[in-house]
Amino acid sequence: MRVAYVTWDGPDDEREPVLAAWLGLGIEGAPARWDDPAVDWSSFDAAVVRSAWDYVDRRDEFLAWARRAEAATRLFNPASVLTWNTDKTYLRDLGVPIVPTHWSSTGLPDWAEYVVKPAISAGARDTIRTADRARAEAFAAELESQGRTVMIQPYLESVEHEGELSLHYFAGQFSHAVRRNPMLVPGLGDLGEANGKATLRDPDDDQFELAERVLGQVAEDLLYARVDLVRMPDGEPVLIELELTEPYLYLAYELDAADMFARALAGMLTPS
Ligand SMILES: Nc1ncnc2c1ncn2[C@@H]1O[C@H](COP(=O)(O)OP(=O)(O)O)[C@@H](O)[C@H]1O
Ligand SMILES: [Mg+2]
Repeated sequence: MRVAYVTWDGPDDEREPVLAAWLGLGIEGAPARWDDPAVDWSSFDAAVVRSAWDYVDRRDEFLAWARRAEAATRLFNPASVLTWNTDKTYLRDLGVPIVPTHWSSTGLPDWAEYVVKPAISAGARDTIRTADRARAEAFAAELESQGRTVMIQPYLESVEHEGELSLHYFAGQFSHAVRRNPMLVPGLGDLGEANGKATLRDPDDDQFELAERVLGQVAEDLLYARVDLVRMPDGEPVLIELELTEPYLYLAYELDAADMFARALAGMLTPS
């Protein structure tokens, strides 16, 4: 088995541990940049999207690549999933509790503090937090003037004490969950850079229930899924993001996680 580990031209501290875990199961992994024209995707038994972290400004190009790659080999997650999941308007249609979201720069509800973000984003890019309603509206109008869909949400303080909980599933099976640090807290320095900075956490029953309800809404077989949950002021868990495209997997936080990811891949490549 030869499998492409789809990456970018930048750092990714999960690349080596994942390739090592694959090799332990006899899967020969090779890093390949998604936008490298020299890669022959048909030379692989599968391609696994991992650190394609530069797709946000080039989404059309990325999705066109995904369709091409899928025509040449097995792509995880499937191109249809990547297409759907790279625009957060999917949150509107899931039928599960999500962070309250106003999808327009006009008629904002009265909230103590606003988060304004584009529907196509990652890593809190072009995202602001403000108590000033006029500023929230102006920023949202600016995004709309660029042809982008806006999302305006109340700032949920729970991310600062309870945190954002990310539950990881490989081939539909729960692997591990981490509490991630808040990203929209000025002056937190390193702590504000949430990626890679987290704490292993056992989800509560209501969080498991919601995560599984969310995943139940997706028809396709998923190699990897990360369900990001936050709590409303009344304690209700809600979905902030379902990451089926290129989630960082926090593998270093759980001893067995990289192996579980490898077993999930092996199982999907050679169904019994
Ligand atoms: N409504 C919100 N309340 C509090 N924090 C938020 C809110 N929306 C986003 N954030 C913070 O910003 C981060 C990025 O937002 P998210 O919606 O996950 O988009 P993406 O990860 O794709 O940039 C979250 O992980 C969280 O720390
Ligand atoms: Mg996120």
